Amino acid sequence: MIFSGTLKAAQPKNTNSMSVSIKTPQEIEKMRVAGRLASEVLDYIVPFVKAGVTTNELDRLCHDFIINVQRAIPAPLNYAPHGHTPYPKSICTSINHQICHGVPGDKALKSGDIVNLDITVIKDGYHGDSSRMFYIGEPSIQARRLCETTWQALWRGIRVVKPGAHLGDIGHAIQSFVEPLGYSVVREFCGHGIGRRFHEEPQVLHYGRPKTGIKLEAGMTFTIEPMINAGKAAIKHLGDGWTVVTKDHSLSAQYEHTILVTETGFEVLTVSDGCPPPPSPR
Ligand code: MF3
Ligand code: CO
Ligand code: CO
Repeated sequence: MIFSGTLKAAQPKNTNSMSVSIKTPQEIEKMRVAGRLASEVLDYIVPFVKAGVTTNELDRLCHDFIINVQRAIPAPLNYAPHGHTPYPKSICTSINHQICHGVPGDKALKSGDIVNLDITVIKDGYHGDSSRMFYIGEPSIQARRLCETTWQALWRGIRVVKPGAHLGDIGHAIQSFVEPLGYSVVREFCGHGIGRRFHEEPQVLHYGRPKTGIKLEAGMTFTIEPMINAGKAAIKHLGDGWTVVTKDHSLSAQYEHTILVTETGFEVLTVSDGCPPPPSPR
């Protein structure tokens, strides 16, 4: 998601790529390190994500791992984009109908829940940002199908990334895949450029039309992080100032990778041993 002024992504404003930074080889190497660390936090937390654990406990575990083991910084903690109260925790935990920015709390996860854990770390000045869905016990068939479709949707978006492709190609790949399945794409939040700053230009919408938006260039780094709802696209903000939920209370899922545009295509920067393998193409 991007927080550019309003945190709304409804008005894509990048018609050229002038404001999108091209990372140097030295910066790219640091982005690889940060990306791997973010993914390794997700690997680390897997065995703890089960019925009975509270999201506060997951937050504490991730926080301590990032600080004490990785010697890195949890980027969400005290993150305060314009118009927001500082984010109070080190990770985001979005359960069931929560779309994104779920704030960890004292409620225990229970069998049948699906939860997105979103991790952003800063290492040596650069950010790595990744999220995955987790099942608590056995998910319903509908919940599993939503999560698997969202994972495939992320990869539909990733696979169109190459120099000369347009941002709109990414959004179109995602939207045209999920909507025929009866799902909807959240409009208010989007992927984002990433680097020295958590949220940089460009905004990476998860819907759109082919050949619209800026042209991608080698050395750009951004996230793709589709939020897909089982019901309607409309969102609602909870009173905590952060948590975003589906207005119709339908389930929502999200996966996120940080991507580098290479000379020939893309490189996923948020990789690790436990990272789920890409779905087979098609
Ligand atoms: N990690 C989220 C993203 O993918 C942003 C979370 S901002 C926070 O862009 F303040 F809620 F942590
Ligand atoms: Co992100
Ligand atoms: Co994220």
